[in-house]
Amino acid sequence: MNPIHVGLLGIGTVGGGTWQVLARNQEEITRRAGRPIRITAVADKNLTRARELVGHAARTTDDAMSVVTDPGIDIVVELIGGTGIARELTLAALRTGKHVVTANKALIASCGNEIFDAAQAAGTMVAFEAAVAGGIPIIKAVREGLAANRIEWIAGIINGTTNFILTEMRDRGMSFPAALAAAQRLGYAEADPTFDVEGIDAAHKITILAAIAFGIPMRFDRAYVEGIAAIDPADVAYAGEMGYRIKLLGMTRRLAAGVELRVHPALVPARRLLASVDGAMNAVLVHGDAVGDTLYYGKGAGAEPTASAVIADLVDVTRMHTADPEHRVPHLAFQPDRISDLPILPMSEVETSYYLRLKIADRPGTLADITRILAERNISIDALIQKEPPEGADHADVILLTDRTREREIDAAMAAFESLPSVSGRIVRIRVEHLGRS
Ligand code: HSE
Repeated sequence: MNPIHVGLLGIGTVGGGTWQVLARNQEEITRRAGRPIRITAVADKNLTRARELVGHAARTTDDAMSVVTDPGIDIVVELIGGTGIARELTLAALRTGKHVVTANKALIASCGNEIFDAAQAAGTMVAFEAAVAGGIPIIKAVREGLAANRIEWIAGIINGTTNFILTEMRDRGMSFPAALAAAQRLGYAEADPTFDVEGIDAAHKITILAAIAFGIPMRFDRAYVEGIAAIDPADVAYAGEMGYRIKLLGMTRRLAAGVELRVHPALVPARRLLASVDGAMNAVLVHGDAVGDTLYYGKGAGAEPTASAVIADLVDVTRMHTADPEHRVPHLAFQPDRISDLPILPMSEVETSYYLRLKIADRPGTLADITRILAERNISIDALIQKEPPEGADHADVILLTDRTREREIDAAMAAFESLPSVSGRIVRIRVEHLGRS
């Protein structure tokens, strides 16, 4: 059987892993795909690195466009990252009739609508399993395995770097900067960790999951994004005392009025399986109306776990290469003419529970003021703890957990707390997700 020819753009960590796994498991992969999958061209700006890795087994070049326009290439694997040159190369590949496999979540989340339109027009495929949660086959599961369901919500720990940092903060009582430095030393966090710690990487991924779960366009521009840099070890400890763990969650939920699309730290009950996902691991919890909760766990990054997803896409594309475009699985799970443009809800409309920590003056009436402000806004308190003031201090920490309420009500209550003379310093507000309990 004739091999299918692949052009690899970028042979760094994931590209190197893809090269190696494909070589190691060539026979098994061929038995699955029905024909050999062969990387015949590799483009990388570091030509020496590319040549060291592939030797004479493939053509190497530092001109990625020459691979994209090479008529001998059937599938382009884009592992460059970002939304600049990667977007140009992807669109050019699709327009010249090539399929594209990509691990680039920023590209799919930010430019996916344009890219899928180009693929649709050209009758080509774009596969992006590796863009979300690395080696976990979550795109396949949501798009195909759960096709019977009305998917109601998805909650994911989809950034390993931040999960590692939060785990270190809990297990070792570390501050955020110390845990971030540990993540950098161990190679989890990039030298510039902004995308990870600010929640942008997770927002790219939850944007993609929302699109395939609900059949909506990519709406990264409407996602609410809050990272973990402001998480204080005191809150990690208080959350633990109350039976919760703090996780950076990507959340998306379909409601009658629209779709919630948000990334932020959240308290998760320790008894929920998702709360036990520690270190750099990823997990995605999907709730469908027929199946109920399903949980997917695994490595969200790294050379071979991500290569596992890239190669699965290569096998899929190879199998479907000769099928009519209308007989292929649609990019966003729903037929392109049945995509619905549900609105993304603003955060003020989101309804969830809240953890609040206030520093209050240790004198009569302060707690009464606080509970009155909540009662006036119909916010019910689930739990309330006042800590004894430290020796010699006249301020004490009050921690409270609310029942479900609209975010705009909590915003108003926090503004009212801030105007109380007995409340000082920053009020800490962290959302609480019970993941199923309403
Ligand atoms: N930087 C990501 C993470 C991995 O920490 O999970 C790639 O998406």
